[in-house]
Amino acid sequence: MRIKIKNLLHSQSVTTYLNKKVYVCGWVKTVRDQNTFAFVEVGDGSTLKNLQVILKGATLEYLPKLTTGSSVGIQGVLIESPGKNQNIELQAEEIEIFGGCDPEKYLLQKKRHSFEFLRTIAHLRPRTNTQGAVARIRNAMAFATHVFFQNNGFLYVHTPIITSSDCEGGGSMFRVTTLNPLASQNDYENDFFKKPTYLTVSGQLEGEIYALALSDIYTFGPTFRAENSNTSRHLAEFWMVEPEMSFCDLAGNVDLAENYLKFVTDYALKNCCEDLEFFDKFIEKGLLNRLRQVAETSFNKITYTDAIHIIKKSGKSFEFPISWGVDLQSEHERFLAEEYFKNPVILTDYPAGIKAFYMRLNDDQKTVAAMDVLVPKIGEIIGGSQREERLSFLEKKIEENHLRKEDYWWYLQLREFGSAPHAGFGLGFERLLLFITGMENIRDIIPFPRFPAHAEF
Ligand code: 4AD
Ligand code: MG
Repeated sequence: MRIKIKNLLHSQSVTTYLNKKVYVCGWVKTVRDQNTFAFVEVGDGSTLKNLQVILKGATLEYLPKLTTGSSVGIQGVLIESPGKNQNIELQAEEIEIFGGCDPEKYLLQKKRHSFEFLRTIAHLRPRTNTQGAVARIRNAMAFATHVFFQNNGFLYVHTPIITSSDCEGGGSMFRVTTLNPLASQNDYENDFFKKPTYLTVSGQLEGEIYALALSDIYTFGPTFRAENSNTSRHLAEFWMVEPEMSFCDLAGNVDLAENYLKFVTDYALKNCCEDLEFFDKFIEKGLLNRLRQVAETSFNKITYTDAIHIIKKSGKSFEFPISWGVDLQSEHERFLAEEYFKNPVILTDYPAGIKAFYMRLNDDQKTVAAMDVLVPKIGEIIGGSQREERLSFLEKKIEENHLRKEDYWWYLQLREFGSAPHAGFGLGFERLLLFITGMENIRDIIPFPRFPAHAEF
């Protein structure tokens, strides 16, 4: 039976398999021919490390075919390694080559490739060390997200991907239509849904429906934004984690965001050691210390108004001038988290004018019960709020934002029938992964990035 390399190299398993016959499969990473014998490094993606395979005698015949990139199955005996780079190695007895790989044509050469180049070969890049580690951490963080919410009594709800309402009111939505491109695009009578429909920008509004019936819920799915932001922090298709809690105010929401971020950070530190050490060594020096600090120290919490004071008093010059009432730019957010607090910081109570229509108006009538979590390196990683649960306030907001009440009839009815205080947030899953891995560009943290002019693969 085939054994994954991770299981072989795992310290507890080594003794189980030592001096026994095992069968492994994987892709050849490197070959070193030493004349009377040869070293072949084989990896199967289950772990960062490769297994060293020794060819001697008859198995040396296979050497010309064991090129970098070819896929193989190898049976042999696992022995203690005399070399100092590994504890064990596999003495090959039988070799099967599943798929050869012409080294002249193979696009993944042994040298280091730029991340930009690797994006153009996204069908091969998961075989690189960095992308393998990214994929494993992405998997671990998705799992940890479910563990956290399930352990805290949240119900996982699947909200729709096709929707007719614009949650964030920004208008940056991808249209979904079956109309002939040459026909009038407003001919909704002949369109599939007989009304304008879009890819969702957020599962929040539908999430609120379930929170106002089942208390605590979360969604975790793909979201889409047709904004033309060509930055290292924006994608057109990204994943969002969105918890929503009934009978909860902004303070409870702030606590949940902090606890969740700490939990997943701690989970990564405990369960992804090998991959995090790799990122600490090659991508961001000091990553492990930064993550440990996040897991251990409590986050700073200040209001938007205080943040404006801090930024103004800093005397630093920014590209975008800042004053009360203006939205923070990424440079301001990063200054606060990276330089001023040197740890995550949660900003609350933003001016009503710069936030979405659904946020609860504070008693000062000027600010809303909003919160953004800002972290070093990224800036905003989470955006959330207490929701406006008072019907008349919400109706007024919808009017002021020039939205159509008819479009939100069901959202308004939730405020008419058994309304309750409730709050929630959205975490950009790829931004979380940038934060955990220290990677610089969001396009390298999702398997197949979608951004302006790019939808390859
Ligand atoms: O702040 P946003 O726009 O909030 C919402 O969508 C709310 N409806 C969430 C809620 O309260 N349930 O987006 C939430 C997070 C941001 O903080 C950011 O991390 C991420 O989603 N995000 C993006 N990530 C990648 N690419 C983009 N274009 C993103 N836009 C937002
Ligand atoms: Mg936001």
